[in-house]
Amino acid sequence: MPINHRYGVRVEQTKKPFILGLGGTTSPVSSTEVALAISLQAAEAAGAETELFGSDRLMALPHYRSDPAGLNQTGKDLVELVRRADGILISSPGYHGTISGLVKNAIDYIEETSTDGRTYLDGLPVGLIVTAYGWQAVGSTLAALRSIVHALRGWPTPLGVGINASGGMFSQGVCTDESVNEQLKMVAQQVMLRAETR
Ligand SMILES: Cc1cc2nc3c(=O)[nH]c(=O)nc-3n(C[C@H](O)[C@H](O)[C@H](O)COP(=O)(O)O)c2cc1C
Repeated sequence: MPINHRYGVRVEQTKKPFILGLGGTTSPVSSTEVALAISLQAAEAAGAETELFGSDRLMALPHYRSDPAGLNQTGKDLVELVRRADGILISSPGYHGTISGLVKNAIDYIEETSTDGRTYLDGLPVGLIVTAYGWQAVGSTLAALRSIVHALRGWPTPLGVGINASGGMFSQGVCTDESVNEQLKMVAQQVMLRAETR
């Protein structure tokens, strides 16, 4: 049972924190999505309910605000998942030194919460994961993602996981690099720490 330390009092939380995992590429077996899934598993192990909004649903999102009729069902589902979230993990590949269009399009849908009581990601812990084939794009993409989360009033966790995936460390849902594995667990634990005390 998750523990809530609010106001210095140790109280058992009856509801599990809900952690949304958002990210990936056009491939469901991308390093970017596998890394996100590993991190979500660590959040679950720490007591969270989780959901991964990955490749298939990212690709079912039209360009944000491209349809005058409004959001399609996948878009509506994403906005509701964001509204429900007590914490978020975002995973993007580095494309040309910044986050991918596919992931940014999904993030654009968060604009729908601009007039909510909880605006955007206000107060939410957000863990960030970036994959690229070189360290330069890892650094610039992580910095771009942090700026986006700040713009959305979220709280990026101290650890952001930057992964140089050019060595092919992800295969069949697992990561063979122990240091990367540990970081993916740690970022989830940092999200959980604040998700439980919000
Ligand atoms: C359009 C595109 C642009 C890319 N740009 C970069 C880049 O600027 N720097 C880099 O290190 N890797 C770049 N890559 C490689 C991706 O970062 C890499 O495919 C991804 O992060 C990790 O692999 P995944 O596709 O299995 O998730 C690019 C890939 C694509 C498809």
